[in-house]
Parts: sequence; structure tokens; C-alpha cells
Amino acid sequence: MDIDQQQLKERLFQIAKDNVFIQGWLHNDAGAFLYQLVRFHAPVPIVVELGSWKGRSTSWLASGIKDRGEGQVYAIDTWQGTPGEMEHEQLLKGYNRDQLFDEFFGNMHKLELTEWITPIRVDTLTAAKQWIQERPDTEIGVLFIDAGHEYEQVLHDFECWSPMVVKNGFIIFDDVPAWPGPTKVVFEMPRWYKQVGTTPNNVAFQKTV
Ligand SMILES: C[S@@+](CC[C@H](N)C(=O)[O-])C[C@H]1O[C@@H](n2cnc3c(N)ncnc32)[C@H](O)[C@@H]1O
Repeated sequence: MDIDQQQLKERLFQIAKDNVFIQGWLHNDAGAFLYQLVRFHAPVPIVVELGSWKGRSTSWLASGIKDRGEGQVYAIDTWQGTPGEMEHEQLLKGYNRDQLFDEFFGNMHKLELTEWITPIRVDTLTAAKQWIQERPDTEIGVLFIDAGHEYEQVLHDFECWSPMVVKNGFIIFDDVPAWPGPTKVVFEMPRWYKQVGTTPNNVAFQKTV
């Protein structure tokens, strides 16, 4: 890889500085981890993000794709917030139907990342069905799971999307151990997924078959 550690450090610092205005929950260490996975390790340059909100994690993923020089981030979200999640309801008070999506897109535009991002504005399970119909041959290099956080929702997202991840591709669960839902799914991962990394609140697996 023709980038030295100092250059990488500076680039990561720059991305964190540029996206600081985006409200979100992703820690910069987790962002840096996602960026490097996408840029240097993903076997194919196709990223699917389940749960984008205002684009904080999307910006790390899309910067990885941009610096890699090929590929696309498919950002999947209803952009309505997670039903029943109090913090989302609070933060979206007074928002109209399109406002969260507009904010997401505006943020990505400000960072000049829209070329590398395809937003898909439906629920994650509908998006999985559409993916199979519309892109049956497109394999995913990195799948980032950060939509609904209840156990069943995370499990369904994993079950519906993981078949599309290419061999040696990566699946990252956000909010482990902060949320019991994703944490339980991670504990139950099938043995052909190898745990390859953690950040303070994420766990990454590599698909070995
Ligand atoms: C925790 S936020 C994502 C945070 C984002 N990754 C970040 O780093 O800032 C969860 C997002 O998932 C979306 N979401 C929740 N359940 C969903 C579902 N079933 N289908 C699609 N999007 C969903 C919500 O609208 C919300 O934007």
C-alpha cells in the first residue's frame, strides 16, 4: 500500500476534523477502523451501511471508498429515525418527513462525497429483497449494521444481508457492547465468521466461507 503511517494518520485526522459538524454517535476510533477496512482490506469495493442517520459513519465509509479510488457506499435508511427509540424521537421533534434525509444528503454534499454514495430510502429488509432482484451479482465487501438495535431487528438484518457478503468480506456490528440486541447477535455468530477486530463500541467479523 503506497501510503505511510504518517500520511494515514494525517488523513484520518482530516476526516475527523471535516465531519465533526455531523451529529451522530460513532466514535472517531471506530470511524478510522471502518475507513481502513474499506480502503485497504475489503475484497471488493462495495459497502452497504444499514442505518445512516445524518451521515457520520457514512462519511468515514465513503472517504475510504473515495481514497481507494473505486466503488460505492449504499446507504440504507428510512430516514425516519428508529421507531420507539426515545432519543431519535427527541432529536427529530419538529422535523418534516424529508428533513432527516435532506440533512444527510446536504452533509454528504458539503463533504463532496455524494459521488461515492447511493442512498436507498426504504427499510433494511425491503432493501435486501430489492438488492437480490436488482443486483443479483453484486457482492458486498463491507456490511456495517447500525439500523434498528433490538435483538430481532439486528438478527434479521444480519440474516438477510450476510448472504450477499463476499467470502473474506467484513461485517461490523455497531453498539457492541452498549446495546444488548447487537451484543447478543455477536455472541451467537456462526463459527464461520472470524472475529477480526474491535473498537470501543464495534465488533468486526470476516466471513470465511
Ligand atoms: C443509530 S442511527 C445510525 C447512526 C449512524 N450510523 C451514525 O453513525 O451516525 C440508526 C438509523 O437507522 C435507521 N433505521 C432504524 N430502523 C430501520 C429499518 N428497519 N430500516 C431502515 N432504517 C432504519 C434510523 O432511521 C436511523 O437513522
